[in-house]
Amino acid sequence: MRVDPAGFDLAVRDGETVFEAALRVQARWPTICFGQARCTACAVRVLDGHENLGPILDEERNILRQLTNRRRGWSMRDTRLACRLTVTGDITVEKRAARPPSAESAEISDSEEQVR
Ligand code: FES
Repeated sequence: MRVDPAGFDLAVRDGETVFEAALRVQARWPTICFGQARCTACAVRVLDGHENLGPILDEERNILRQLTNRRRGWSMRDTRLACRLTVTGDITVEKRAARPPSAESAEISDSEEQVR
């Protein structure tokens, strides 16, 4: 998947949420509740690939209703919580404060991988 406006690619594994994928690769992704579907800081706007979005469960739907009511221009169709969002194919999202893994952390990940 692609994350704009930073413009980086994030590989999301089967069954993994977007937020979990971001943590795995050490990308910077806003959160307060660390994946508990409470803070909404992880929310994304889906720009493309709606057909590849995983299902919305009641817990997420209820929070999205509150969020989209508060934020002008955010719709239920385009808004998802990264900590509950799974994907079945390619998508593009907007997440303004998200940043790709730094080269430094990528090097750390690589060296950790070699140690295992
Ligand atoms: S990380 Fe808090 S709602 Fe997703």
